[in-house]
Amino acid sequence: MYDFAKTDPNDKAALYTDLLSALGAITAEEPDPIANMANAAALIWDFLPDLNWAGFYRVIDGELVLGPFQGKAACIRIARGQGVCGTAMATREIQCIDDVHAFPGHIACDARSMSELVVPIEHEGRLIGVLDLDSPTLARFDAQDVEGCAELMAVLGPRVAG
Ligand code: SME
Repeated sequence: MYDFAKTDPNDKAALYTDLLSALGAITAEEPDPIANMANAAALIWDFLPDLNWAGFYRVIDGELVLGPFQGKAACIRIARGQGVCGTAMATREIQCIDDVHAFPGHIACDARSMSELVVPIEHEGRLIGVLDLDSPTLARFDAQDVEGCAELMAVLGPRVAG
């Protein structure tokens, strides 16, 4: 049994330090991309407060396809450039959206979602997929979340590249 989530949820710096170390440890010896994405989604869900969805979309044949996640059942396929995830895919840039309802083309998988953070996952110049975090709170994600999640995906990239 793994039980990592004991960090004070109010100490964001400590949360990301401990989350990074847990993710690094649990994925270090495992070559299977889906197993590593599944554990990453579970760890993020355990560590980060105030989320209603946390998971992955994988790049398959030029579109995003739903991968391992925690939260309610979600839309399965997202076209390049569509919504927040498809924009992250097309631009390869992190999307930190304070109010998803103000984002043109936002795809409402869960009506509770108010803010969203999407981080592209790359390995050796190839886009593997995106990490998608949704929160029921407006402007839930700040610069520390952007930096912390970018670091997490830098570690995970080679371990989900297949
Ligand atoms: N809201 C996302 C779609 C994925 S769900 O939030 C899980 C978007 O606009 O790309």
